[in-house]
Amino acid sequence: MKGIVFNEFIEFVESAQGMVTVDAMITAANPVSGGAYTAAGYYDFQELIAMVTALSTRCNIPIPDLVRGFGKYLFGKLVAQHPDFFRDKPDVFSFLESIEGHIHVEVRRIYPDAELPRLETERRSDGSLLLRYRSRRHLADLAEGMIAGCIAYYHAKNKVSRSDLLDEGEAQVTEFIIFYE
Ligand code: HEM
Repeated sequence: MKGIVFNEFIEFVESAQGMVTVDAMITAANPVSGGAYTAAGYYDFQELIAMVTALSTRCNIPIPDLVRGFGKYLFGKLVAQHPDFFRDKPDVFSFLESIEGHIHVEVRRIYPDAELPRLETERRSDGSLLLRYRSRRHLADLAEGMIAGCIAYYHAKNKVSRSDLLDEGEAQVTEFIIFYE
C-alpha cells in the first residue's frame, strides 16, 4: 500500500487521539519500516493492519469503526489535494460514478503500483445509486467511510445501506446503495 495512506493514517490518529497514542500504537505494532513512510513509497499492507489492531486494543474502539472513521478523514484529505477531481461533478452520484473510470485511473497513472478496488456503479430505477466494491484488500469499511466523506463534502442528505455479499479468501464484495429518504 502507498506511503501516502500510511501518512494520512498516522495524521488521523494524531488528530483524534494525540501523539502519545501514535507512539504507543507504533511501538505495539512494531512495523518493519519503523513507522516512517514516504508518500510514493510502497509498504506492506499488513503494517497498516497491525497499527489499526494495536490502536483498536489501546483505545477500545472496534476495528471497523476505526477504519470507517479513517475513510471519512482520508476522503477529506484526498479532495484537498485534488480539487480538480470535483470539477464538473455537481453531486454525490456523479462523483462516485467517476472514481472507477477517472479518479482511480489517475491514481494508477501517478502510482503504477497502487492497489485499487473495483468500484462499479449503476443508477437504479428508484433513483438510488448502487456502488459495488470488489477487492482483495477487504477494505469495504474504508470504502464506506469514504462514501460518508463524499456525502459530507457535498452537504448532501443521502443515506447509505450496505450488503456484504462475499468476504472470504481472495475477495470481498460489498454493495452500497446510496439513496434519498
Ligand atoms: C468515495 C470515493 C472513494 C472510494 C469509495 C475509494 C475507495 C478506495 C478503497 C476502499 C481503497 C483501498 C484499496 C482497496 O480496498 O482495494 C482505495 C485506495 C486508494 N484510493 Fe480510492 N476511493 C475513493 C476516492 C479516492 C480519491 C478522491 C482519491 C484521490 C486521489 C483516491 C485515491 C486512492 C489511493 C491513493 C489509494 C491507495 C492505493 C494504494 O495504496 O495502493 N481514492 N480507494
